[in-house]
Amino acid sequence: MKHDDQKNAGIASRMQRRDFIKFAGLGTVALSAGLQGCASLARLGGSRDVRPFTIIALPDTQYYSKAFPHIFTAQTEWIRDNKEALDIFLVIHEGDITDNNAEEEWKNARKSLDVLDGVVPVCLNTGNHDQPGWGAERQLTHFYDFFPRSRYENLPWFGGTWQDGIENAYWKFERDGVPYLVLCLEFGPRDEVIDWANRILDAHPKHRVIFSTHCYMYSDDTRVGEGDKWNPRTYAGADNDGEELWEKMVRRHENIFLVLSGHILNDGKGRLTSTNEHGSPVHQVLANYQMLPDGGEGWLRIITIDPAANQITMKTYSPWLDRFATDEENEFVIENAFRPGFFNV
Ligand SMILES: [Fe+2]
Repeated sequence: MKHDDQKNAGIASRMQRRDFIKFAGLGTVALSAGLQGCASLARLGGSRDVRPFTIIALPDTQYYSKAFPHIFTAQTEWIRDNKEALDIFLVIHEGDITDNNAEEEWKNARKSLDVLDGVVPVCLNTGNHDQPGWGAERQLTHFYDFFPRSRYENLPWFGGTWQDGIENAYWKFERDGVPYLVLCLEFGPRDEVIDWANRILDAHPKHRVIFSTHCYMYSDDTRVGEGDKWNPRTYAGADNDGEELWEKMVRRHENIFLVLSGHILNDGKGRLTSTNEHGSPVHQVLANYQMLPDGGEGWLRIITIDPAANQITMKTYSPWLDRFATDEENEFVIENAFRPGFFNV
C-alpha cells in the first residue's frame, strides 16, 4: 500500500542560492544556508546540540572506472578538498563501481577511491556490474581482491559484515552524541541477508540509520517492484527488489530515515517519502547519471541532514563540470524530515 506515501511533501522546488563560497581551486559554487550550518550549533529538543552534517552519495561509477577514470578521481578529489568546508561526514557509493568487472576497471576505481583514504569514511555498495556478466551469480572475486574486509575491519567505524566480504556490511558513527549506522546490502539481497540485517537493526535501536543498496527506488518515484525494468529479480542470482525490501525490512524499523540507491536508468532520478510502522518518515532517493555523456558527467549528490531545522537538503554537483544541476529533481529540500524527538536518543 502506498496511500501513506507522498513525493516529499513540502519540497522547496528551487533553493535560494544567494550564498556563495569559493572552494579552493574549484571555482565559485553556490551553497544554501543549510550547507553552512556547521558554523552554528542548534539546540534540539532542549537536550542536545546537534549540528547539520553532509554526506556525499556517489551514483554508479561504472563508466568512469571503464573509460573516464579522471572524472571519478575529480569527484573524490573534490570531496577531499571540500571535506572541511562542507563538513562532509561520510561518503556512500551506490554500487556498480565497475562496468565489466575487469581488473583494469577495479584498479582505476581503487586509485580514485584511495584519494579518500584516511580523509573521510567511504561506505561501498556492490552492483550487478561488479559481478561477471553484468550480474551473474553473486561472484565478487575482484571486489574481494581490491576492497577486502581486511582493509576495513580495524577502522573505528567498522561495524560488521554478513560473511567475509563487505558487500553486506554495517558501519557505525557518532556525532554530537547521536549514534548513526549505515547499512549497505548486496544487489537484490537474499532473504538470509535481509534476516541478518533485521537482526543488526534490532540490536541497534538507538542508532539513526541510513540504508543503501544498489537497486531500491525506480525512476517513477515508486520503489522498484514487479514488472519494473531492471528489477533485480530479472538478474541471475538476485532476489529481493525495492518493494520487498520495504516490506521485509525498511518499514519495520523505527530508526531508518534515509534510503539511497542507483542502478535504474530512464532519467535516473526518483524520490518518495513513506511512513514506517512506527510513524516516522522514510525518505527514499534514486540518483544515477550513467546515461549522460562521459559516463555520467561527474554528478554527485550533496546531502545535508539538519536535525534542528528538521530538513534534509539535496543538491547535485559535478566537480568535473564545476556546476550544479538545479532542476527540481536534482535540487530540493525535504521539510519536516523527522518526527519530533527522532534524534533525542
Ligand atoms: Fe546496476
